[in-house]
Order: sequence, then structure tokens, then C-alpha cells
Amino acid sequence: MKILGIESSCDETAASVVEDGHILLSNVVASSMALHAQYGGVVPEIAARSHIEEIIPVIEKSLTSAGLSWDDIDAIAVTYGAGLAGSLLIGVMTARTLAIIKNKPLYKANHVEGHIYANFITETKLENYNLPSKQPHFPLLGLIVSGGHSQLVYFTDHFNYKLLGQTRDDAIGEAFDKVAKLLGLPYPGGPSISKAAEVGNPLAYELPISKMDGKYDFSFSGIKTAVLRLAQGLVGKDYNLPSSKLPELLNEAQKTNIAASFQRVAVATVVDKTYQAFLEYSPKSVVIGGGVASSRELRNQLAKKLPIEIEYTDPKLCTDNGAMIATLGYYQALHNYNLADPYELLIKPNLSM
Ligand code: KG4
Ligand code: ZN
Repeated sequence: MKILGIESSCDETAASVVEDGHILLSNVVASSMALHAQYGGVVPEIAARSHIEEIIPVIEKSLTSAGLSWDDIDAIAVTYGAGLAGSLLIGVMTARTLAIIKNKPLYKANHVEGHIYANFITETKLENYNLPSKQPHFPLLGLIVSGGHSQLVYFTDHFNYKLLGQTRDDAIGEAFDKVAKLLGLPYPGGPSISKAAEVGNPLAYELPISKMDGKYDFSFSGIKTAVLRLAQGLVGKDYNLPSSKLPELLNEAQKTNIAASFQRVAVATVVDKTYQAFLEYSPKSVVIGGGVASSRELRNQLAKKLPIEIEYTDPKLCTDNGAMIATLGYYQALHNYNLADPYELLIKPNLSM
């Protein structure tokens, strides 16, 4: 069964065809990230306009690069939440229209669940993909770490899961993005913090790990403020100094040391909770999804802490993509779950797990 997956929840317009929930046939992503870089974060109106321009060419390319025509497609899956309303609307309206005119079943997909399903893709003829050697097994523990989400989820089977904890404020990727901005490093912050951290000392500064009431909940606003206060102190100013002045006042060593210390502690926050959940639930597999899953520091800390080997997927499938939605759509079709009416499907920007 070949599923076309369509994803447009944030700043990536993406479409992909996946066969039988594990063979990647195409993966096309058009990102408007460069347009947002000058603002230091995603501007929803710019993202929506860019989706309008890109969505049809991206879908067409996902079919042609897989060597397929519409007759070969068995169903369409589309992200209907969570995400930016204007962005989701473009993907959902396009998928609804295509489902009607091409007469295909339509499945509605939860973006955050999709990040987990990226790890079910194990085969491709496409070049330069580093995929897991086998699919994860249930029960599985899933950690989703992205620019919009930080969640720890325990799955006993497909669509049968318990949300163990989530962030109470910022997502971990968002914290990377904000700290990068404060240091004058380019957006997106994850990769630029990692790069700066390579030459910094991760033990240069002590930063707090937030203690939350919920056993598996996270918080990243405290560490973000702690970084701001630390930086203001290092340049000899008090809390009245605007953060926009920091990049010119901090020296290179201070910046790389802050980046490395922040990265160590932010990553330890999610690694500690993942370890605790691993001990409590004894899952057969641990699966990491979302843009921050490509972080070297995260992979190193998890490898040191967990007594189980984690198979990571390619960074191209960690950030937002249509393949994770197509894969989730396949399992939904198989289990007769989340079939949508193409005349009725609405977006759900605040959809939770
Ligand atoms: O999953 P994603 O593409 O979008 C959302 O659904 O949010 O994740 C994007 C996030 C950004 O915040 C980016 O800074 C972060 O993933 N990221 C990283 C790395 N690569 C991307 N964070 C830490 N280390 C990385 N290497
Ligand atoms: Zn995402």
C-alpha cells in the first residue's frame, strides 16, 4: 500500500510517498526557513504564503521522483494538527481537494505522533539516507524533541499510548533557538549552538535543571532566563541590559562556553526523565523524534545513560517531513483509524497527544 503524506504545520512544505509503512519512495521538502532567519524565528504569515506557493510543486515532485502516478497512490495522509493555523490550512485544504478529485481515502494525522513514526522507515533506494536497521518494537518509549514539542510518551501498541509528561512552557528546540539569538548565533539555534559548543567548555558554567511537580514534565524557561542573567553578569551589567546588546558585548570564549554549558544542561533535562521512564516502564524500544533528535550531544548522553541501543533515523527524517505522516497514515489505514471526511476535515492547531 502506497501512501502520500502531506505536512505543512510549520515552515516546511513537505510531501512524500511511503510504501507499506517502511519503504521510503520519495521525500520532498521545501523550507521557508531562510525567509524567517532574519527575524530570528518563524513568522506565521510568511510561512503560510510560502506553503501556498510550494505545496502543488512539492506534491507533484514527490510523485515524479518516486516514479509514480496518481493511480499508484492508495491513500492520502495529512497533518491536521498541532501547528500554525495558517500553515495547517494550506496542507489540509490541498489534501481534501486532492482526496475528492483523485477519489482517495483521506487520513488525518497528528504531527507529534508522526515524529515517532519517522522511526518505522527502514528501507529506501534514495541516496544519502541513514535508516534504522529494523522497526521499533512495542511497548516503546518515545521522546519527541522539536521546536514546538517536548514530550515523553509510552506506547503499548499503535495508537494506544499514554502521555507521561511534556513541557510546561518552552519546547527544548525553542530554548535552543532563543539562547542562540541571545548569543547572536544564526537561526535555527539547534545546529548553531551545537557548532559553537564544539569549541566551548560544557562545564564552564553551572545552569539550573528545573524541578517540576509532574514526574515526567519538562520546563525550559528557567534555564533560558538563567543564561540571560549569566550573560548580563559576564559583561558586568545588571538585568536592565537588553538581551539584544549581548552579542556585541560577549567575547567568543564566553559565547562558546555558554553554548556548551547550556547544551549540556538542556539535553540532560530530557535525558534524565527519559532514563527514569525507562526504569519505570521497561520498554522494548526507545525512539527519539523531532528536530533536536539530530543533536550529537543528545545522542551521546542517551548512549551513556540508557542500557538499550537506540537506532536513530536520518536527520532529514528528524525535522519536519511528509514521510513520517505517510508512515503514520499507513498504520492508520491498516487499523481503520482516523479516516477523515474530505468534505469536513478541519485543522486543530492545539491538537494534543
Ligand atoms: O521537528 P522540527 O523540524 O520542527 C518542529 O516541529 O518544531 O524541529 C526544529 C527544531 C529547531 O528548534 C532547531 O533548533 C532544532 O529542532 N534542532 C536542533 C538541532 N537540529 C535542529 N536542536 C539541537 N541540536 C541540533 N543539532
Ligand atoms: Zn515537528
